[in-house]
Amino acid sequence: MKAKLEEIRAKAKEELSKANAVEAIEELRVKYAGKKGELTAILKQMGKLSPEERPVIGQLANEVRAFIENEVETKKAELAEAKLNRQLEEEKIDVTLPSDKSPLGHKHPLSVVLDEIKEIFVGMGFEIVEGPEVEYDYYNFEALNIPKDHPARDTQDTFYITDNIVLRTQTSPVQVRVMEKKKPPIRIISPGRVFRSDAVDATHSPLFHQIEGLVVDKDITFADLKGTLETFIKRLYGEDSVVRFRPHHFPFTEPSAEVDVQCFSCKGKGCRVCKNEGWIEILGCGMVHPKVLENCGIDPEEYSGFALGLGLERVAMRRYGVDDMRLFYENDTRFLSQF
Ligand code: DAH
Repeated sequence: MKAKLEEIRAKAKEELSKANAVEAIEELRVKYAGKKGELTAILKQMGKLSPEERPVIGQLANEVRAFIENEVETKKAELAEAKLNRQLEEEKIDVTLPSDKSPLGHKHPLSVVLDEIKEIFVGMGFEIVEGPEVEYDYYNFEALNIPKDHPARDTQDTFYITDNIVLRTQTSPVQVRVMEKKKPPIRIISPGRVFRSDAVDATHSPLFHQIEGLVVDKDITFADLKGTLETFIKRLYGEDSVVRFRPHHFPFTEPSAEVDVQCFSCKGKGCRVCKNEGWIEILGCGMVHPKVLENCGIDPEEYSGFALGLGLERVAMRRYGVDDMRLFYENDTRFLSQF
């Protein structure tokens, strides 16, 4: 039996030294020192031994078991360490390597144009104010002289939140909010997002941007409107720009006009840029309707004013020769990085 135990010890040692996976080591432990292992099989025969031999063999058996278990643990630890070393080697980071350049962002073309427009108006003494995008029907329509049955509502396909709350279809409601709060003199512009239930195509989007302008004071006349807008357009498009006022209609201004600038590409002859018209429409404007002043608690006998509304995307499209406004919203860096 003694020889048998020594043989188990030698065999286990030999086999363990060759094993190089945790599973294989565990298998060997079961094979030799497990409950049904070779060592246990031998111990079961202890009853056949004489009382003198029993403790000797018992002690040896315990030694062999301890030896095997010790070998198993040592071997497992070795494997774990080797694995860790391999991992450390593979995942080594060379902190001295030059890093990838992180790409710098670009100002969005709409922001470039908006900042320029803001600067021009601020230079003329205008303040910049903002209004809510979710707006009461009252401010978006009613107070601007567009009652419930007014045909102008049809041209502005409105997103309704409830019967009397909408996503604003224009920045004009900010006029009303400003006039309600502040007494003249008023000189503000209000840029922001507006929403209309339009299908997306090259020139339409359910979300776009407008800039509203409003001036109210004593003795404001159409001449002030013309002078201000001409100055604005010349600063935006160049001192040699030719500006034209065309009669138009808006419910909240009277009289109203649309303003065109002579095509800077063909100088009025007609080309692709101006769709052969020679002129490019820039904005809508007019003298604030007395009813609108009244709605806001401003006495139209004492004060008068003018207002304007301008589409930001149009200005940017013309400025950069962009013929599809969807490019502004896709945020494809290949497009944006050009500005
Ligand atoms: N709110 C108008 C629109 O969305 C634009 C506009 C025209 C605003 C004339 C004005 C204005 O303030 O006077 O079509």
